[in-house]
Amino acid sequence: MSEITRPLTPQACTLVIFGGSGDLARRKLVPAVYNLLLDGVLPDNYAVLATGRKPLSDADFRETAREGIAKYSRQAIKDSVWSHFEQRLFYVSGAIDDPKAYTDIRARLERIEAALKLPANRIFYLAIPPTSIAAAVEGLQKAGLVQPPTDPTQFSRVIVEKPIGNDLASAREINTTVARVFDESQIFRIDHYLGKETVQNLLVLRFANSIFEPIWNHKYIDHVQITVSEAEGVGTRATYYEEAGALRDMVQNHILQLLCLVAMEPPYSLDPDVVRNARMEVLRCLRPIAGKDVEKYTVRAQYSVGKVHGVDVPGYRREAGIKPDSTTETYVALKLFVENWRWSGVPFYLRTGKALTKRASEVAVHFKEIPQILFNADPEVPLASNVLTLKIQPDEGLSFRIISKVPGSKAKTHPVEMNFRYGEAFGAPSPEAYERLLLDVTAGDASLFMRRDAVEASWAWITKILDGWKAYGTKWLPEYAAGTMGPVEADRLIQSDGRNWHPL
Ligand SMILES: NC(=O)c1ccc[n+]([C@@H]2O[C@H](COP(=O)([O-])OP(=O)(O)OC[C@H]3O[C@@H](n4cnc5c(N)ncnc54)[C@H](OP(=O)(O)O)[C@@H]3O)[C@@H](O)[C@H]2O)c1
Repeated sequence: MSEITRPLTPQACTLVIFGGSGDLARRKLVPAVYNLLLDGVLPDNYAVLATGRKPLSDADFRETAREGIAKYSRQAIKDSVWSHFEQRLFYVSGAIDDPKAYTDIRARLERIEAALKLPANRIFYLAIPPTSIAAAVEGLQKAGLVQPPTDPTQFSRVIVEKPIGNDLASAREINTTVARVFDESQIFRIDHYLGKETVQNLLVLRFANSIFEPIWNHKYIDHVQITVSEAEGVGTRATYYEEAGALRDMVQNHILQLLCLVAMEPPYSLDPDVVRNARMEVLRCLRPIAGKDVEKYTVRAQYSVGKVHGVDVPGYRREAGIKPDSTTETYVALKLFVENWRWSGVPFYLRTGKALTKRASEVAVHFKEIPQILFNADPEVPLASNVLTLKIQPDEGLSFRIISKVPGSKAKTHPVEMNFRYGEAFGAPSPEAYERLLLDVTAGDASLFMRRDAVEASWAWITKILDGWKAYGTKWLPEYAAGTMGPVEADRLIQSDGRNWHPL
C-alpha cells in the first residue's frame, strides 16, 4: 500500500469545544477523538476541554461522553483505553456572552496544560449557534486566548461549523467577525462532506489513475448528476430548517463542494492552498442562475403526506414547528453549467431533498453514447451509456456500468455493473469524516476545509437563485409525496433534455 504523504504532522494540543454539552459534541466530536486514539493517530499528548451553559462536572461530562461513544462510535469502548481517555476529558461551564466564562476557560486550560505538560496549542471548536460566533471569538480575544499565527511556540486555531450565514451578506458578516480575531491561516471552516472517505477518493480516483483524466471532459462526458437524498423529514430541526431550506442546507456547501471535486483541474501539488485554489476556480466558472432563469434551471418543492420505509410522514407544513403556510423548500433540483474549456456544454444536474425514498449520496458521471452502428444500430433499442457512480453514503464505494455480451449464440448485449465497496476491499468501516477533519486541524492542514473566498463565492451564486425565487416565486410550491424521489417537475427538468435521473 502506498501512503499519501501528509505535508504536516499532528501536534500536541487541547481541543476546546464550545457547545461541549450539545448534540454535535456527543454524537460526533468526542467519539471522533476517541477513535483517533484507538487508531493510534492522535498526537501523543492531548486534552479535550468542553464548555457549555449546563453546570456539569468533569465526572458528569465523562459519563455523557462515554454514553455518546457507546452509542455513536465507529469502534466499541475498550475499558483499558477508556480509563486513559477519560482522564483527558474536562468540562467548564459558562455562557458565551459572559466574560467570566473566558477567564474560567483560561484558568482551566492553564491548569490542564501544566498538569499534562501540554504546550499552549489550542483548537477552539465553535459547535454553537451561528448567532453566538461573534461573542465567542471576541470573548477569546479579550481573555488573551488567541495567539498570533506567527508565534512559533504555540498555535491558536478555530473551527467554525456550518451554517456560515444564510446568504452572502450574513456569511460575509460572520467571516469578517472571525477575521477580526483570527488570521485566515488559523480558521478551519468545516464541511464534513469533505472529510468523507469517498469524497477524498474522488481526487485519488481522478488523479492517481491514468484512465480517467484523458476522458474527464466535454468530449467524453455527456452530463453529471449529483444526488444527496435523505429519507428523514425535518425531524427536530424545524426552527433551523424553516429558515434554511434544501438549497442553503445542502447545495450551498456539500453539493457545491462535491461539484468542485468532480470538475476541478488537476492541482500541481497537494499543498492545501493549491488544492483549494483548484476547487475555487470551479466556483468562479459557475454560470449564474439569476432572475427569470430560476424558472428554467431550478425546481423547488415540499413533501406532502406519504410513507417513508412504511412509516407515515405528515406533509412538511403539518410537521411540528413548521408554519402552515411555509414556502421553505424541502427539495431542490438544479441544472447548471461550469463555463470553462473542460466542461463546455456539459450539464450538471443536482438534486437533494428530505423525506425521499432512501438515504443516499452519489455522483453519477454519464459518458456519451457510442455511435449508432454495430451494437447500437437499432434506434428503437439504444444502448445504455457507461456510467461511473461514486457512492458517498451509505455504501461507500464506486460502480461502473459497462455493456457486456449476454452469453449465448445471439449477439445480445446487457449493461452490467462492476462494483467496488470500501468495506469489502479494505475490510474495515471507513473513519468518520469528523475523525479525519479533527486530525487535520491538529496538523494545521486546511486542504479539506472551506476558505473564505470559496464560502463567499458559493453564497454569491446561491444568493442569486434565492433572489430569483423571491422575485418570481409562487405562493405554493409543487409537492411530492413523502417516500418518493421528488416532484414531477424535477423529472421534467432532466427529461426535457432527453435524460433521466440515475436510479439510486
Ligand atoms: N448536530 C449536528 O449533527 C450538526 C451538524 C452540522 C452542524 N451543526 C452545527 O453545530 C452547531 C451546534 O449544533 P448542535 O446540534 O450540537 O446544537 P445543540 O445540541 O443545540 O447544542 C448547542 C450547544 O451550544 C451551547 N450553547 C448555546 N448557546 C450558548 C451560550 N449562549 N453560551 C454557552 N453555550 C451555549 C449549548 O450549551 P448548553 O446546552 O449547555 O446551554 C450546547 O452545548 C450548530 O451551529 C449546528 O448548526 C450541527
